[in-house]
Amino acid sequence: MTRIVAVINQKGGVGKTTTALNMGSILKRRGNRVLFIDMDPQCNLSYAMNAFLEDKSIYDAMMGNVDIKNIIQRLHDGDMIISNGNVSSYELKFHGESKEYRIKEIIEPIKEYYDYIIIDSPPALSVLTIAILTASDSFIIPANCDSFSAQGVDQINSTFEAVRAYTNSKLVCDGVLLTRFLNEFDQDNSIKVKAVAHKNRIPIFDTVIHESIAIKQANANKKSLYDCAPDSKVLKDYTDFVDEWLRLKRGDNYNG
Ligand SMILES: Nc1ncnc2c1ncn2[C@@H]1O[C@H](COP(=O)(O)OP(=O)(O)OP(=O)(O)O)[C@@H](O)[C@H]1O
Ligand SMILES: [Mg+2]
Repeated sequence: MTRIVAVINQKGGVGKTTTALNMGSILKRRGNRVLFIDMDPQCNLSYAMNAFLEDKSIYDAMMGNVDIKNIIQRLHDGDMIISNGNVSSYELKFHGESKEYRIKEIIEPIKEYYDYIIIDSPPALSVLTIAILTASDSFIIPANCDSFSAQGVDQINSTFEAVRAYTNSKLVCDGVLLTRFLNEFDQDNSIKVKAVAHKNRIPIFDTVIHESIAIKQANANKKSLYDCAPDSKVLKDYTDFVDEWLRLKRGDNYNG
């Protein structure tokens, strides 16, 4: 069974791309077949995975210009479909009837080749986000421990409810992953985020991702933490997070 998981937060710079990359690379190293899909017009994940950026992108597949099977790049950390700046104009340029179902439709023929499909998303709550959530089994919300994050979690919950009501009744929110955790001040703010999550009945992962220079070094070197900083504490954080997530999925009757 393939599990499709999206990494979502309309707030920028909270660690969505970093989480998608490291989660996927950890799952790949455990012998799973992993596909990354970059849905962000900023193309940060495509860049961080050292993909060939001149190739056709998910935008071309969504517009029906290319067969999705022909644009999968085989990279060190897993298979990948890159993004492109044009993704941001999808909402205006796509004239088919089912904008919200388009990603689900195009990944259907390749699903069977993978154990996990990880979708990195842009910092927005748009039609694209709805299309991503419509295609996904579940989603993870990376969030920083600041006071605006609590507000953001509230907004994501409204989108989640709309998607469940109209386009994907099976969508599950796996939970909020607190990222870039630094000190006691973050500890205080995390209580606010937890309170909002609790109010919305959104789970919070016990694992917290700490602030670490190793992440910036890995990004600059276009590598995952596994290759760039195998002994770092933050890789241990991400490994613990993946273990916690897999336990959660087993609880959902999923044999991961
Ligand atoms: N735990 C961490 N410690 C230190 N730096 C981090 C950490 N997580 C992410 N960063 C850095 O913060 C910046 C933003 O991270 P990232 O790109 O993963 O966030 P994002 O949510 O995907 O951003 P965007 O919304 O722009 O797509 C990057 O420069 C990244 O290297
Ligand atoms: Mg990103």
